[in-house]
Parts: sequence; C-alpha cells; structure tokens
Amino acid sequence: MENKNIEEIVRKVLESMTGSSSGTAAPAASAARPAAAAGGIPKTARVAKLVEKGRFELQEYPLPEVGDGDILVKVEGCGVCGTDAHEFKNDPFGLIPVVLGHEGTGEIVKMGKDVKKDSAGKELHVGDKVVTCMIFKDNPDITMFDLNKQNVGGADVYGLLPDDEVRFNGWFADYLLIRKGSTVFNVSDLDLYSRVLIEPCAVLIHAVERAKTTGILRFNSRVAVQGCGPIGLICIAVLRTMGIENITAVDGEAKRLEFAKLMGASKTVNFKEYKGIENLAKAVEDTFDGHLADFAFQCTGSPVAHANIYKFIRNGGGLCELGFFINGGDATINPHFDICAKEITTVGSWVYTLRDYATTFDFLKRAKGIGLPMDKLITHTFPLEQINEALQTNLSMQGLKIAVINK
Ligand SMILES: NC(=O)c1ccc[n+]([C@@H]2O[C@H](COP(=O)([O-])OP(=O)(O)OC[C@H]3O[C@@H](n4cnc5c(N)ncnc54)[C@H](O)[C@@H]3O)[C@@H](O)[C@H]2O)c1
Ligand SMILES: [Zn+2]
Repeated sequence: MENKNIEEIVRKVLESMTGSSSGTAAPAASAARPAAAAGGIPKTARVAKLVEKGRFELQEYPLPEVGDGDILVKVEGCGVCGTDAHEFKNDPFGLIPVVLGHEGTGEIVKMGKDVKKDSAGKELHVGDKVVTCMIFKDNPDITMFDLNKQNVGGADVYGLLPDDEVRFNGWFADYLLIRKGSTVFNVSDLDLYSRVLIEPCAVLIHAVERAKTTGILRFNSRVAVQGCGPIGLICIAVLRTMGIENITAVDGEAKRLEFAKLMGASKTVNFKEYKGIENLAKAVEDTFDGHLADFAFQCTGSPVAHANIYKFIRNGGGLCELGFFINGGDATINPHFDICAKEITTVGSWVYTLRDYATTFDFLKRAKGIGLPMDKLITHTFPLEQINEALQTNLSMQGLKIAVINK
C-alpha cells in the first residue's frame, strides 16, 4: 500500500476517535484555545544534555529555523520515565551525549506555513498545547517505536536519540522543534499534569485493551493488580474509570497501598505481612470474599511477583503481564499447576498503539470526571535547572511520578 494511503487511513481512524474533522474547523478546540504565547521567542534556549552517566548539563544553543512543516514548542513540562532513569544511571544504550525526555508537553509558539492540523485532523494554532507520540504510525494497531524514521529527518522520536545538530529534539529543554512528519496531538483541553501523564497512561490503556481480548475481563470481574508504582496505580485508575469496582491492590509499601485506594482499589494486601505464597494467595482470596481473582495485572519488574501471581487467579481466569518493559530475568513457574491445570489465559502488553494514545486523552478526562486524583501521581516537580535532582529522586524511589516543570 502507498504511504500516502496509509497516512490517510490512520488519520481517518484517529479523527473518528477524537471527534475532530479534517473538513471543518473544530469549534471546541478553537474555543478552548489560550491566547497566543506572550512575548517574543528568544534567539537562544537551553537543553538539558546528559553529558556523562549521572550528570545532565544545561547547554544553550541558537533556536533552530522553523521549516514550513515544523512546529516550535515552548516546553511546559516533561515526566521522568524509567527509561530516562536507566539511561541517566547506566547509559545501557550508549546514547550519551543526548537530550532526554519523551513524556513532554508544551505550547506552540511558532509554526511553519504548511502546518494546519494535528495527526487527528484537529486544527493547530500558536498557543495550542501539544504532545508528540513516537509510536509506529503507519498502522494505528501496531506497537513499535518509530526509530526507523530517524534516517528520514528524525521525525517522531524525541528524547531518545543523540543529535549532533542540536535540533532541540528532547523534551528536557526550554524549547522543542517538532519536525515535519511527526505525530503531534492538540491536547489544549487537558491541564498540564494530565498532559504530562499521557504517555504512561497510554501504557495502561493498551494493557487493558490487551486484557479485554481474553474475553475474561468484565464489569463485575474480581481483579487483582500486583505492584502499586505509577504503572499499577494507573492500571487501577483505568479499570475504575471503565466501571470495574472489585479491585484488590497488592504491594509491600503501605503508602502506595493507601494511594491505590484513592485510585479506586476496593481492598489492599501488603505482601510483606504474609509468609509464603499460600498465605499471600489466601489473603488475596479473602479480599474477594473467598474467591480468587478472575483477572490479574502484573505491574512489577520482579520475576518472583510474576511467579506468584498465578496463585491469585481462579481456574479459567486471565493474566496480563506488563511489568517487564525491559529484561528483568527469568521467572520460575510450574506450567502444570500454574497454567495448564488452571487454564489461565495470558496476554503480554508492551507500550501502546497510536489508537491507544488517542483513547488516553478521553481516559484522563473521565478519570478526573469521576474524581480520581490523577494529578497527585506527580509527587515531585523540579525546574529544568534541577534536572539532576529530578533524576536522582526518581532513582531513590521516594515518590511516584517525578516531573520537570518549566516555570
Ligand atoms: N509494558 C510496558 O510497556 C511498560 C511500560 C512502562 C513500565 N513498565 C514496567 O512496569 C513495571 C512497574 O513500573 P513502575 O514505574 O510502576 O515501577 P515501580 O518500581 O515504581 O513500582 C513497582 C512496585 O511493585 C512493588 N513490588 C515489588 N515486588 C512486588 C511483589 N512481589 N508483589 C507486589 N508488589 C511488588 C514495589 O513495591 C513497587 O511499588 C516496571 O518493571 C516497568 O518495566 C512496562
Ligand atoms: Zn516513558
């Protein structure tokens, strides 16, 4: 299929999801549109460049030319992702020197003359708030990073790849240049913290979509969520926003379990209070009045947790394993007892599709609508000058979501 045709199909799918139309103006977006950025655009601006393991340095460069298809964005904030922390600490991918930050959002301050609409067909104007999405965009149902685009102008990938030309290509900066052909969404109708949370929330929208493919997850399901870091907590919020009410959260940190209740968990189990997997499974069963879970989400990077979770699930139940974004080692399970004899249906989940990304905008509005304190997931914020502290705070596991917020 021709590339042009594929782009047209993808745009149509996204339009139908976000309610925008490519033919007419989008009144809601126009009405909500804030005033154009006040003040001029400076000649130079800063990027936070990771120059060695454990150290970002603020470097100032001339702002790049904005081409006819480009968008210049004044960065408002960017979440710190586990991948950023991993790179900061160990540089496993050999990217140094690199400008990181991919969970960012900001305000359009300048656009090329060819830029009229976002990737969903919504109008774009100076003053609009946007996010980028680096997922493979030639098919809205495929999960894959768009790294191959690096060679054709570097479109789409921000905050992950080194760039000698200093094109302002990571969100840990004052400004970002969104290059022609990138996936960009107008999310002016979301507040700043919601916009910063879009990327991690998309991971859970996808995980729940994967879970639904088993046919086991239903409104009245008993659901266990293992691990209450940001990923598990958002998982609970997504389930709750869908109308699932019988949710048991499992973690070893009392504070995180408290937060799980705020996000919609009906019961909690602190695994540190139980000796042996039988007692722990019994504790989970007790929270469901003597039933095991119909479905479970594994949201830790611990192989032991993976091995344990089968014991929480009833015969014929389902499991979504999403805790291993990266290799965390092998887990030992008993295929007879844990899978065959129990007839467990398992799905894996990794990142998200472009379709899930668009669904996430609505999820964030609905979560807020039912009173879930999504913004409280961002426990620590730092200005760009303190980006090293932001990364260290992430590594210290003190908070939940850490974000760099530009003043
Ligand atoms: N599928 C994806 O695309 C995707 C995307 C992002 C992150 N992840 C993965 O999700 C995992 C969780 O991310 P996070 O940011 O929430 O991490 P986190 O480290 O903040 O949270 C993990 C939580 O699990 C708890 N935990 C550890 N062992 C446990 C056990 N045996 N039983 C119950 N709870 C246990 C910890 O106390 C902690 O609260 C990570 O391992 C990450 O790799 C996956
Ligand atoms: Zn991320």
